[in-house]
Amino acid sequence: HLIYSDQVLSIIAKTPAEVDILRNMSTQHETVLWQPASARHIKPDTEVHLYIPKHHVQNVTDLLKTHLVLLQDTQELIAMQTRNHTSDPRSSETFYERYHSLEDIYYWINRTITDNPDRAKVILIGSSYEKRPLYVLKLSGRKSNDAKKAMWIDCGIHAREWISPAFCLWFCLKYYGENVEVTQLLDTLDLYVLPVMNPDGYKYTWTTNRMWRKNRSKHPHSDCIGTDLNRNFDANWCTEGASDYPCEEIYCGQFPESEPESRAVANFLRSHKDTVKLYFSIHSYSQMLLFPYSCSYEQAQNHDELLALVQEAAQNIRRYYRNQYKYGAGAKTIYLAPGGSDDWAYKMGIEYSFTFELQDRGTYGFLLPPSYITKASKEAALAVKGITLRVIQKK
Ligand code: ARG
Ligand code: ZN
Repeated sequence: HLIYSDQVLSIIAKTPAEVDILRNMSTQHETVLWQPASARHIKPDTEVHLYIPKHHVQNVTDLLKTHLVLLQDTQELIAMQTRNHTSDPRSSETFYERYHSLEDIYYWINRTITDNPDRAKVILIGSSYEKRPLYVLKLSGRKSNDAKKAMWIDCGIHAREWISPAFCLWFCLKYYGENVEVTQLLDTLDLYVLPVMNPDGYKYTWTTNRMWRKNRSKHPHSDCIGTDLNRNFDANWCTEGASDYPCEEIYCGQFPESEPESRAVANFLRSHKDTVKLYFSIHSYSQMLLFPYSCSYEQAQNHDELLALVQEAAQNIRRYYRNQYKYGAGAKTIYLAPGGSDDWAYKMGIEYSFTFELQDRGTYGFLLPPSYITKASKEAALAVKGITLRVIQKK
């Protein structure tokens, strides 16, 4: 029969031989691995999510013993994620319940600072490989001064994780809302938000390839494009769990901070390290609340404290939103991932450093319908707020 759309399959390898087949398959037939991030993390008895272009679906499924079709009609889901964009993408009514193009996000940044001149500022921290601006929003409460402590949130390190920038926008909105807790937060801490750390990649997912992960930089001895920005920071850089081969999704780049995007973030945080007390990096998908280390199996010096913080956050999410989040140190909870921004920030002295993986756990994966944005954002915001309030109380 005719296969009319790209599909996503869920596959579990049972034996080492099946693992090999799956690893091979995930680097051929123009497939894109959704989970885990790299073929080398594929293990027996763990679920693999694989995106397959329509003209290869038959080939690939013929090679597999068993599989489950996770997504039958990715075309329709992609259409759903970009719909409403023709009429009036910038209309405010349902703005935070939709995904937005890079241009609209830049427009939104602009509107946020013009609408809130004394509480929102924009800071240009650098530019991307293709020379797009990297804007950080600085949001302050009423009692702002230069020595005030701050927190940092970045979104969109990985291009295809669209829920992440959507969360950053949603979170900023809430900071100007009625929420009492948040007002209390803002009076104590300034908030720095980088809504899209990887604008070139994000743009590319809107125009050319929805499944793109890395940035869009070129490399001297390869035709393959892009560096994984979350492997490009200086934390056990390019050791096990990253790749020095530019064609891979977890390519670490030519040297630590070789990419303008990661360098801009590192420079900004280095120059604000005395005030920034909390670091959050927002990814998707798989529903996890992670803390250092991801670059080794070593325990962080305040491991127990960080564990207690994410455990409480996960419990609150379960209680209020009936949703399950795993939590723990990155390396032990998912896989070794050296060169991550959270580990780098932690090693530099930001003791409260986290990476969140938002919804879902694979039902839609990166193609999470826009109707889920609000709930996914509320869950993550509950964790950010809860952890931050606890940290403030300690001081
Ligand atoms: N899934 C993300 C990645 O592969 C995050 C992995 C955890 N790494 C980290 N440094 N927190 O980049
Ligand atoms: Zn990611």
